[in-house]
Amino acid sequence: MSKQMSHLDDIPSTPGKFKMEKSPFVHNRLRWHSSLAKLTFWSFIFLGLILIFFFRSPSSNPLPQDPSRRSLRTYNWGGPAWEKRVRSSACVRSHNGISVLVTGAAGFVGTHVSAALKRRGDGVLGLDNFNDYYDPSLKRARQALLERSGVFIVEGDINDSALLRKLFEVVAFTHVMHLAAQAGVRYAMENPGSYVHSNIAGLVSLLEVCKSANPQPAIVWASSSSVYGLNTKVPFSEKDRTDQPASLYAATKKAGEEIAHTYNHIYGLSLTGLRFFTVYGPWGRPDMAYFFFTRDILKGKSIPIFEAANHGTVARDFTYIDDIVKGCLAALDTAEKSTGSGGKKKGPAQLRVYNLGNTSPVPVSDLVSILERLLKVNAKRDIMKLPRNGDVQFTHANISLAQRELGYKPSTDLQTGLKKFVRWYLGYYNGGKKAAG
Ligand SMILES: NC(=O)c1ccc[n+]([C@@H]2O[C@H](COP(=O)([O-])OP(=O)(O)OC[C@H]3O[C@@H](n4cnc5c(N)ncnc54)[C@H](O)[C@@H]3O)[C@@H](O)[C@H]2O)c1
Ligand SMILES: *[C@@H]1O[C@H](CO)[C@@H](O)[C@H](O)[C@H]1NC(C)=O
Ligand SMILES: *[C@@H]1O[C@H](CO)[C@@H](O)[C@H](O)[C@H]1NC(C)=O
Repeated sequence: MSKQMSHLDDIPSTPGKFKMEKSPFVHNRLRWHSSLAKLTFWSFIFLGLILIFFFRSPSSNPLPQDPSRRSLRTYNWGGPAWEKRVRSSACVRSHNGISVLVTGAAGFVGTHVSAALKRRGDGVLGLDNFNDYYDPSLKRARQALLERSGVFIVEGDINDSALLRKLFEVVAFTHVMHLAAQAGVRYAMENPGSYVHSNIAGLVSLLEVCKSANPQPAIVWASSSSVYGLNTKVPFSEKDRTDQPASLYAATKKAGEEIAHTYNHIYGLSLTGLRFFTVYGPWGRPDMAYFFFTRDILKGKSIPIFEAANHGTVARDFTYIDDIVKGCLAALDTAEKSTGSGGKKKGPAQLRVYNLGNTSPVPVSDLVSILERLLKVNAKRDIMKLPRNGDVQFTHANISLAQRELGYKPSTDLQTGLKKFVRWYLGYYNGGKKAAG
């Protein structure tokens, strides 16, 4: 091997030089016997072998460092053992149970919804690409948690149509709970492509496969309160305008709603969009304020508290994860069947959109005060102007529609919910001796 390497080292580094050495092969047989020509010949052979080796072996190809390509990895799936795990995870255990494909199952909401479905005897199969938008080790820990309750998470991308088709070939899912997405508003400055990849292209490939599946599943999917954008009329109701997005995230969620409407209209897919309002709780997302405030308060680091123009209060309708889970399950349970088959619509299909909030906006400064009391540490507040790049000043849900049609009734106030979050946080990061990265 070291001998081969020495040959490689001898290859001229510039293409021009390469070409000059090459021509003598053809025109002068005498030169063929010169040692320089031999060396060049063997260098070609070895270079060729090395190139073939690199192109045929995907593992030797390091992951692209460009963040916009982060989620374009290829994954290993398929084979009898893999199919067996898929079937067993999606197997319905209760009478009248449903079989659900949960996308984004290693995510915050996806983990809680998957666990709740499994607990009541439904078949659940997860799908997640474990991207590194935030610490993937937290996603792995959630995966381990689900694994223990019998939920298998297939590692793959929602934009991989071949994988999706395979999943529907193996399991006749009655429902899809679509939670995979590029979340967060600030990350768009760094990686705008990821919003297009997951929230647009990924959504379309998922709906394409669903419309062609036989039977077509009913789909419940996560939109966002961010579609209300810069609206000032509160509380936000489902019929309000959604044409003033304040972030690329909001724009892709809004586009997703229109794409969903289109698939409902053209192909008879039963579609329910849920507009979540700032969901928080145990196993939550490290990119959200309540989470990194907790981390930074404990570290003694100052935390940025945004203030709108004229010292206006920034407030959020914080919604506890268990309330969101109940809303998701109620949406699945009240979803009607899709009406199409073989990719063709047979009749009108159900199309719904609901706010899932808490109806009780809390100023972010109050959130910090609650955390201070729970953590028994004073926060270092750093008051800052609300940046223009994504966050809105205020969110407040009108949930009367979800109340009426889903029986949705949030029951956890911020104080109670944060207490549960903090208990989890301390156990996870201190008990597990993990760095709160
Ligand atoms: N948490 C909130 O406050 C909130 C508010 C409004 C809307 N939502 C929406 O709810 C859904 C769930 O949010 P969450 O808080 O659980 O976020 P999350 O980031 O924890 O979960 C999303 C999961 O989807 C996976 N994923 C992303 N792109 C993927 C792709 N292309 N293929 C496969 N998997 C992919 C991620 O790895 C992640 O595990 C998202 O659609 C989000 O936009 C959340
Ligand atoms: C999604 O998948 C399609 C079809 O395989 C591919 O052409 C496209 O480039 C992908 N889009 C993104 C944004 O990854
Ligand atoms: C809440 O939404 C319902 C429609 O679902 C509407 O009738 C009602 O007027 C709204 N309430 C407020 C206070 O905006």
